[in-house]
Amino acid sequence: MRGHCADHPEPLAPTLVIALDVPSAKAGLDLAGLLRPVTPWMKVGLELFTAAGPGIVKELKGMGCRVFLDLKFHDIPNTVRGAVRSAHASGADIINVHLCGGRAMCEAAVNELAKVGEAPENRAPCLMLGVTVLTSVAADAPDADLSLEGGASLEELVLKRARHAREWGLQGVVCSALEVRAVKQACGKDFVCLCPGIRPERGEVPDDQSRAVTPAEAAQEGADFLVVGRPVTLAGNPLAAAKNIVRSMSAVRY
Ligand code: C5P
Repeated sequence: MRGHCADHPEPLAPTLVIALDVPSAKAGLDLAGLLRPVTPWMKVGLELFTAAGPGIVKELKGMGCRVFLDLKFHDIPNTVRGAVRSAHASGADIINVHLCGGRAMCEAAVNELAKVGEAPENRAPCLMLGVTVLTSVAADAPDADLSLEGGASLEELVLKRARHAREWGLQGVVCSALEVRAVKQACGKDFVCLCPGIRPERGEVPDDQSRAVTPAEAAQEGADFLVVGRPVTLAGNPLAAAKNIVRSMSAVRY
């Protein structure tokens, strides 16, 4: 995603995605309007989608935003196939599934997206990413998610799921920036790593994120997208907070 190209011999800085975790369409659109000059990328997750419905994606796209529809599908293959069709129809640019849903479910999602993505439309291809392990899960937590996997370490589990994602045809994963180097090493530098769990300063926001890193650290590790919610949305001045994040990740020397 950010990689090398003829015009950019150096890797580009990651792209900032704002998590619009707010309870109404109006609150989401107001935030997006305020922050759109800093980044066009907005994330619609469970809270906003459940309150506002798929129309919110169309409205954001109408404002010139790109949308990561973060609904983390995890269900039987047939249901996920239908959800992918609807998510694509909403206009989303990135959608995702939980990799722990397994091969049949993930391949159903990938195949459906390939099918609906073929429709002649004037839009960029939609990416399908897989959630490895939520960034709220701590490496040392006696977590149910990990105990199901025969005692694998958290990094081993993330890598195993990332390899599955590549094998099953997904374009990348959602992981902690702490895992990006290993994921890129295992799956290739163009395999997209989208990273939540970003904290401008440790302890700044009361929080459920465990594997958190700063924007500069995430940029240094090679993340393609940084997803940031509360450090921007709860800030006294969200515009200044978003600008600071872009400044600190762009200042990294690659
Ligand atoms: O407020 P905060 O910056 O922690 O928001 C992170 C966002 O990223 C939330 O919307 C959360 O749902 C999402 N997310 C995450 N961990 C994942 C996948 C998505 O925190 N593995």
